[in-house]
Amino acid sequence: MADTDPLTVGVVRESRPGERRVALVPKLIERLVKRGLRVIVEPGAGAQAHLSDDVFEAAGAKLGEAWDADAVLKVAPPTPDEVARLKPGTLLIGFLNPRSDPDGLAALEKAGLIAFAVESIPRISRAQAMDALSSQSSVAGYKAVLLAAERLTRFFPMLTTAAGTVPPAKVLVLGAGVAGLQALATAKRLGAQTTGYDVRPEVGEQVRSIGAKFLDLGIEASGEGGYARELTDDERAEQQRRLTEAITRFDVVITTALVPGRKAPTLVTADAVRGMPAGSVVVDLAGESGGNCELTKPGEEVVEYDVTICSPLNLAAEMPAHASELYARNITELLELLVDGEGKLALDFSDEIVAGACVAGRERSAE
Ligand code: NAI
Repeated sequence: MADTDPLTVGVVRESRPGERRVALVPKLIERLVKRGLRVIVEPGAGAQAHLSDDVFEAAGAKLGEAWDADAVLKVAPPTPDEVARLKPGTLLIGFLNPRSDPDGLAALEKAGLIAFAVESIPRISRAQAMDALSSQSSVAGYKAVLLAAERLTRFFPMLTTAAGTVPPAKVLVLGAGVAGLQALATAKRLGAQTTGYDVRPEVGEQVRSIGAKFLDLGIEASGEGGYARELTDDERAEQQRRLTEAITRFDVVITTALVPGRKAPTLVTADAVRGMPAGSVVVDLAGESGGNCELTKPGEEVVEYDVTICSPLNLAAEMPAHASELYARNITELLELLVDGEGKLALDFSDEIVAGACVAGRERSAE
C-alpha cells in the first residue's frame, strides 16, 4: 500500500469447521466505502450467513483475492495456511486467542503482520460498540438456553392443562456476565423460574432487574476492570460445597464463569450432577477454557447420572446471520479508529483502545 492510498479491506471465507459467520455484512461495507475504503470480498465468504456474492457487490464491494488486501478482516483465528497467504505488513483484525495461543501470536509476528485481536479491546465505555466478545457472548447465552430447552424432556413454562398442571423448569445460570445475563433473560422469556449466581456482588442488581433471583453464597471476588478475581483455595472449596448443595434443586444449569486468561473454575462437581433430578441438563459454555463442570468433555455432549452435559464451543457460529451483523458492526468501529478521514492507515498508540488491541507488529506499524 502506498502511503497516499486509502486502505483496501479484504473479507475472507472462514475455514474453521462449523464457522458460519462472516466478518463484514453489506450494510457496513456501504459505510466503509462511503469513507473511501475499498472492500474486496472472497467469493462465497458470506454464503453460510445467507449473504450471496451479489449482495456484497451491490453494497459496493468487489469480488476477488481478499487475502491480498491491506487489511484482512476475519472471525476465527487464522490457520497456519491462512497466515502464509497474508503479505507482510497486512493489518489483520479478528479473534486471535491472544491469551491462550502464544504460539499463534508469535506466528503472526514472524509473518510480519500488524494484528489486532478483538479479545484485547479494553472493556471501557468508549469501546462498547467494538466489543465483539460481548456481542458474540450475547448470542451464545441466548443459544445455550435454546439448546437446554431442546435437550430437556420437560417444559420450560408452567402449564395449566385439563390433564394437569406442569410446574415451570428451574434454571440456574452460573456467571452473570454478558452470556449469563442473556441466558437468564432468554430462559425467563421461555417461562422458566430463573436464578443467577456470580462472585461479583454488583451484578446482583442486574440479575434481579431481569426477573431472576440472585443466589448469594457469601463469597465475593470482584477483580480489576469489571472482571472477577480468581478465588483462593479455601474460597473455591467453600463455593463448590455450597453450590453442590444448591444445584440439586435445578433442572437446568447453564455455566458461563470465567476469569480471563485462567482455567475456568469448577463450579459443578460430579456430586452436584449426581444430585440433579434425572433428565436434567447442563450447558457448559466454558468448555474452551476447560469447562465449569467437572464432567464436561469440551466440544461434546455426554450423559452422566442421567443428566445431559453439553459443551458447545462455538455457539455464535450457529446463528450466523445476526452474529455476523453484530460482529461486523464491532470491527467496523475498530477499523474506523485505525484510519484517518481519508481512509488511510493512521495508528495512534496513545489511544488505549489501539494500544490494547494491537497484539503483534506494533513496532513494524511505525516504519
Ligand atoms: P464475562 O467476563 O462477561 O462473564 C463471566 C462471568 O463469570 C463474570 O461475571 C464473572 O464475575 C463470573 N465468574 C468468574 N469466576 C467465577 C466464579 N468462580 N464463580 C462464579 N462466577 C464467576 O464473560 P462472557 O462474555 O459472559 O463469557 C462467558 C463465558 O462464555 C466465557 O468462558 C466465554 O469464553 C464463553 N463463551 C462461550 C461460547 C461458546 O460457544 N461456548 C461463546 C461465547 C462465549
